[in-house]
Amino acid sequence: MRVFITGASGWIGSHTVDEFLSHGYDVTGLARSDASAAALEAKGATVLRGDLDDLAGLRAGAEAADGVVHLANKHDFGDPVETNRAERAAVETLGDTLAGTGRALLLASGVAGLAQSRPALETDSSPAVGPDAPRGGTENLAFDYVEKGVKSISLRFSPTTHGMGDHGFMAIITDAAKRNGYAGYVGDGSTGWAAVHVADAARMIRLGLEKAPAGAALHAVGEESVASRDIAAAIAQSLGLEARSFTSEESQASMGGFIGLFWGMDLAASSAATRRLLDWTPTGPTLVDDILAGAYTG
Ligand SMILES: NC(=O)c1ccc[n+]([C@@H]2O[C@H](COP(=O)([O-])OP(=O)(O)OC[C@H]3O[C@@H](n4cnc5c(N)ncnc54)[C@H](OP(=O)(O)O)[C@@H]3O)[C@@H](O)[C@H]2O)c1
Repeated sequence: MRVFITGASGWIGSHTVDEFLSHGYDVTGLARSDASAAALEAKGATVLRGDLDDLAGLRAGAEAADGVVHLANKHDFGDPVETNRAERAAVETLGDTLAGTGRALLLASGVAGLAQSRPALETDSSPAVGPDAPRGGTENLAFDYVEKGVKSISLRFSPTTHGMGDHGFMAIITDAAKRNGYAGYVGDGSTGWAAVHVADAARMIRLGLEKAPAGAALHAVGEESVASRDIAAAIAQSLGLEARSFTSEESQASMGGFIGLFWGMDLAASSAATRRLLDWTPTGPTLVDDILAGAYTG
């Protein structure tokens, strides 16, 4: 069985490639650079050279595969309009290509904005609808393809999919702590983030392809909520600094508006339904274990 993976060279993507290859799948990975292509080839994956904007390339990759895992994202926080446009165009192309085939389209999403004052559930619908919404509203767009014969499945990642080598939000928060000379948490630090180890997330993706029905939202969540003051305390310990409260404005000034705002938000999520559906049990280290083991300071 062949799986076409976009973002195959990325943080989650490279672990996902390993997961599928080690379970006997043939993998085709999208690569836009020589370095990414060489890394994929060295693992035994087939390379499809191309950019997210090369829609003909995306079409060719999807046509030749039994299932698609779409993880690539431009992540240009300075130009969210272009990032969202490209993401929507890519999902539209993949959906159109798979229409009428019953084949799977698993696409990356997140748990932010799904619920207020309680952990997000798999049954919560994303409020992001239409091209101007975060991520170009692609979760809902993909679900629209279910009635067109696509097995669309949303991969809602925790805001921190952590592990050794992670360069995502936790790395940005740690870098801000180094610059500030202290690890900050907003307010009393009682807001928390869901977290998952990257190897658990990759395993959930494979199980999702094998077991989830069309229209499923899967929560890649190993820990429902880790309090931001506990995360800051671990970062502070790993850097030999103090942890202390700061304001949302200070958070945004030290990390950039979008991430600094995110850091003060409650982004808790449950994965009870995903665990039941896929018989998936996260086993990786906790977020605090990874921070204390030097994942962001090594
Ligand atoms: N990590 C998390 O905690 C987290 C949380 C919520 C949601 N997500 C979502 O999950 C997905 C994977 O995240 P990640 O952390 O693995 O991201 P990442 O490490 O930044 O990887 C992004 C991937 O997209 C590729 N890419 C970027 N721009 C491209 C372009 N113009 N054309 C083709 N490929 C391009 C990159 O290729 P290069 O190697 O060539 O740069 C890389 O393979 C993303 O959609 C992300 O938004 C992640």
